[in-house]
Formats: sequence, structure tokens, C-alpha cells
Amino acid sequence: MAETLLVTGGAGFIGCNFIRMLLRESDYRVINLDALTYAGNLESLRDVEDNGRYQFVRGDICNAELLDYILGTQELSGIINFAAETHVDRSILDAGPFVHSNISGTVSLLEAVRRHGVRRYLQISTDEVYGSLGAEGRFSESSPLKPNSPYAASKAAADVMIFAYAQTHDLDVVITRCSNNFGPYQFPEKLIPLMILNALEDQPLPVYGDGTNVRDWIHVDDHCRAIRQVFERGRSAEVYNIGASCEMSNIDTVKAILALLGKPESLIRFVTDRPGHDQRYAVDAGKIKRELGWEPQSSFGKALADIVGWYRQNPSWAASVRSGAYRNYYATQYQKRLN
Ligand code: NAD
Ligand code: TYD
Repeated sequence: MAETLLVTGGAGFIGCNFIRMLLRESDYRVINLDALTYAGNLESLRDVEDNGRYQFVRGDICNAELLDYILGTQELSGIINFAAETHVDRSILDAGPFVHSNISGTVSLLEAVRRHGVRRYLQISTDEVYGSLGAEGRFSESSPLKPNSPYAASKAAADVMIFAYAQTHDLDVVITRCSNNFGPYQFPEKLIPLMILNALEDQPLPVYGDGTNVRDWIHVDDHCRAIRQVFERGRSAEVYNIGASCEMSNIDTVKAILALLGKPESLIRFVTDRPGHDQRYAVDAGKIKRELGWEPQSSFGKALADIVGWYRQNPSWAASVRSGAYRNYYATQYQKRLN
């Protein structure tokens, strides 16, 4: 019989790409538990909703009764937890939902694992738990946890809780920490889709500070393949960093998008910086390469061109996520900065 995985947060950006990959490339059955916050969108899974190996459940990972029902009626091989509040700028406006979903939500899942016994729990964490780098060096799995934003702090708190549960209750857990992802179905509050969609509409492109902050980009499909390998073959109670060694300053990323779209650089606006803005992220992914033989397959230039094409060809998906709530958020975040 095919094994069943509970994927939480599967209606978000990385989760929907992961579910699509699993249904395409494996015979796992997948239960997607997602609260459908502003970032969750079932439009992103339209093409798989009728797949017999896929089931969607709407709910909050903090709901212990719902978790008892799912874990009590299904024999799960694993839980892969993508569910989280994920946007640094929103965590600066209000950290409450980050404490709820990222910390309490993770503990709620761990408690359910304790009650029911699930073979393996995989947490999708982030390289942002390590804080910020200067001009040199890269984050390794033994870099200290020094989160700077409320988002990063909530993810670090979850990681620490997971290891405490593993140690205390003898659970099989594993954590991945990946760098910045880009790809199809990413919510346009994040840099790359926001810039593509604004540029397509000839709207200003708000670059924080002087644009020299560096992010280490990875295509979401490379991340998803890595997650599957860590879930299936990673060592218990270990952290695996994931990254594609693709450092880009924000201004260079934005200029590359404009060039691909044939739009003028005069659309760029340098705006007031994000408070506590991390200067540079760079991930050393040597461990997952050595232990599991994982290698990224995408090249940034080609993948960015594909993604620009994807957003251009899928205006209805973009329209479905840019609701009134998105417009309100956009106004709060950018109106003053752009005027
Ligand atoms: P996203 O914001 O696009 O999606 C998050 C999903 O989680 C949404 O579908 C939302 O409805 C759901 N969700 C939120 N709170 C929930 C709750 N309490 N119960 C159930 N569902 C809930 O996020 P993403 O970019 O796909 O990120 C997924 C995971 O990967 C997160 O844990 C994030 O920290 C991590 N991560 C993201 C990146 C990145 O570049 N996007 C990089 C490294 C790690
Ligand atoms: P983001 O996509 O929010 O990811 P993270 O903050 O988790 O790395 O931002 C990526 C980089 O782009 C970050 O340095 C902040 C910058 N940025 C802008 O300059 N303008 C924007 O409008 C946004 C959303 C981000």
C-alpha cells in the first residue's frame, strides 16, 4: 500500500510545488492540511485536486482535535510541516500570528506526534534563523542561531522546541534550512513576484535601502527535491542546510527582471529600508551534498526567465491572490514609502 504523508501548509508557495512534485514523481498519498490564510490558495493546486492520491483538509495546525482526528484515522509515514507565517515585513507589523502558527503550531504538531506516533517529523525551517552575514562566510549547520526579525525568531524557536521534543520524547525529527526560494505560485509580497507583477503593470519597484542586501536564491523545485531526500534518507535529529550558491544583490535581481521584461530601470524606487534588515544570506549546503548526493539542477538566469514567463502567462492566478486584503497590505507597506 502506498504510504501516506501529512503535508501542512500545502496551499502555500513551496507546499503546493512540493505536493505537485510528490504526486508526479512518487506513489505517496498526500493529505494537505492548510488553514488558507491570506497566503494559502487552492487555485495553486487546481491541477491536482482530482488526483485520487490527494486530499485537502482545511484547518489550523494548532487545532489539536483536528490533528487527533487525522492522525487517529490515518496511518501516517510522516508529517512535513510547511505551515507558517512567512513574510518578514508582516512580522514587523504584527508578530502575533507568527507566534501562533510558527511556534504554537509546531508544538501542537509535536504533541500530536507524541500522542499518535508518526514515523518521522520534518520541519521546513529557514536559513534566516542564523541571522545576517557580513561580506564573507556562509551559514553552516553549526552556525549559531541569531535571528533578527520576529519571523526568523519564531522559526528558530520552533527549531529549538523540535530538538527538545526529540531529546525528551524520543521522536524521529529532522530539520531543513533553505535559502530564499523563487518559482511559480509565490505570493507577490515577496521580492521576485512583487517586482515582476509591478513591472508588468509599469508600477514603481520599491527597493529597500540601497539595494545592496544579498540573498542566496534557489529554485523551488531544487528545494522540493532536497526535502524529499532529507525526509527519506536524512539522519534523525539532524539539520540539513539547502542552498544553490547563487548570491545576488537585490538591485541586481531587480535589474535582471526589468531586462527580461524589456522595462526601463527608471521604474526602480529606492525606499526607506526595512527595520533590522539582514544584510546578507549565504548557505553552505555541503552536508546534504556529501551525505545524500543532492545537487541543485536549475541555473538562476534560465530559471528567472522561466518564472518571469510564468507570471506573464498566469495573470488569472495573480489576480486571484491580489485580493482586497492584498491591496490593503500593499498600501500599508508601500504607500508612504513611495510618495
Ligand atoms: P507561504 O506563506 O506561501 O505559505 C504558507 C502556507 O501555510 C499557507 O498556505 C497558509 O495558509 C498556511 N498556514 C499558515 N498558518 C497556518 C496554520 N496555523 N495552520 C495551517 N496552515 C497554515 O509560505 P512558503 O514560502 O511556501 O514557505 C513554506 C515554509 O518554508 C515556511 O515554513 C517557511 O518558513 C519556509 N521557508 C520559506 C522560504 C522561502 O523563500 N519562501 C525559504 C526557506 C524556508
Ligand atoms: P523577501 O522576499 O521579503 O524575503 P526575505 O526578507 O525573507 O529574504 O525579501 C528579499 C529581499 O528583498 C530582502 O533583502 C528585502 C528586499 N525587498 C525589497 O527591497 N523590496 C520589497 O518590496 C521586498 C518585498 C523585499
